[in-house]
Amino acid sequence: MQATKPSADAYARRALARLIQPQPTVDAVGAGLTFYQLFTEDDAALRAEAEAGLLAPAASISPKFFYDALGSRLFEAITDLPEYYPTRTEAAIFSLHAAEIALRVGRGATLIDLGAGNCEKAARLFRTLAPSRYVAIDISADFLRDTLRGLARQHPQLPMVGIGADLCAPLVLPDAVGDGRRVWFYPGSSLGNFTPEEAGAFLSRLHEASAPGDSVLIGIDLIKDAQRLEAAYDDPLGVTAAFNLNVLRNLNRLLGANFDVRDWRHVALYRAEAHRVEMHLEARRDVTVRWGKHARAFAAGERMHTENSVKYDLPSLQAMFADAGFEDLHAWTDVSGDFAVCHASVGR
Ligand code: AVI
Repeated sequence: MQATKPSADAYARRALARLIQPQPTVDAVGAGLTFYQLFTEDDAALRAEAEAGLLAPAASISPKFFYDALGSRLFEAITDLPEYYPTRTEAAIFSLHAAEIALRVGRGATLIDLGAGNCEKAARLFRTLAPSRYVAIDISADFLRDTLRGLARQHPQLPMVGIGADLCAPLVLPDAVGDGRRVWFYPGSSLGNFTPEEAGAFLSRLHEASAPGDSVLIGIDLIKDAQRLEAAYDDPLGVTAAFNLNVLRNLNRLLGANFDVRDWRHVALYRAEAHRVEMHLEARRDVTVRWGKHARAFAAGERMHTENSVKYDLPSLQAMFADAGFEDLHAWTDVSGDFAVCHASVGR
């Protein structure tokens, strides 16, 4: 059974409604590093979102629920798997084309890392891009603050701003970001976890938040044969299966639900017509899940949709960036054409 995800706008509106932002908390964490907490997602809002997905006729779970502490570690393990090519292919493109990337992107800009996580990918670009300021945004504010503390010690000359914020909400950047030329950095093919419509809306929001001369630097996975894609999302070691199933443990904790991971099977399939890998959890037998005063019955074989990972080709990327208002797209790919690093600018 297929599930429909909420549109980017609906998600953005909900996220905005949840925004607890009367006054951002500002925290001068140390010399050269300031931290802003623009967003606090309270448990009640998370519970309501999870519940709505579970109770929908075609049940779904938002991929945001993958990333508890264990889920984040499992994702890191995925990036080490031989079958999961995107992370190392993107890193290879950045190192092979470093000089040309520096030339096109230009040195000395404010590097804005969207969904920064452990900041590793951006930090590897510091030498290439020599940013004048590093701005890291992530919804996991505590994790980001700790990471930036360490990074600021390693790069004491580079001013850093950390922002705990939800990327699905309208982007409101604090003054500390400054008005220097901006490069929006969104690596790792995270754009693929949006539907194409959501991805287009996200790029349009970046364009709206930009000034002439600003640009985007985005890593995105490309269409390839179904076998390789399905192997990347259903590895023989079962790490991706554990990553997918772990979402149930997270929901048990959040909702007080009684999911038994042994009742569920990981499913990853490539839908060529939609150019996307879908992940689902499929009930191995008839199951009734209970939490609070709610219950949801699943028939054996029924699926909950947990993730889309959309793959692109270069012409559709060209169209998507142009539709969002960006110009002069340049894409660097690896020799096999597995992955693309795209740079596009806001016209002057
Ligand atoms: C985070 N994101 C880009 C990953 C992807 O490839 O869509 C998440 C992932 N899901 C399963 N494996 C990796």
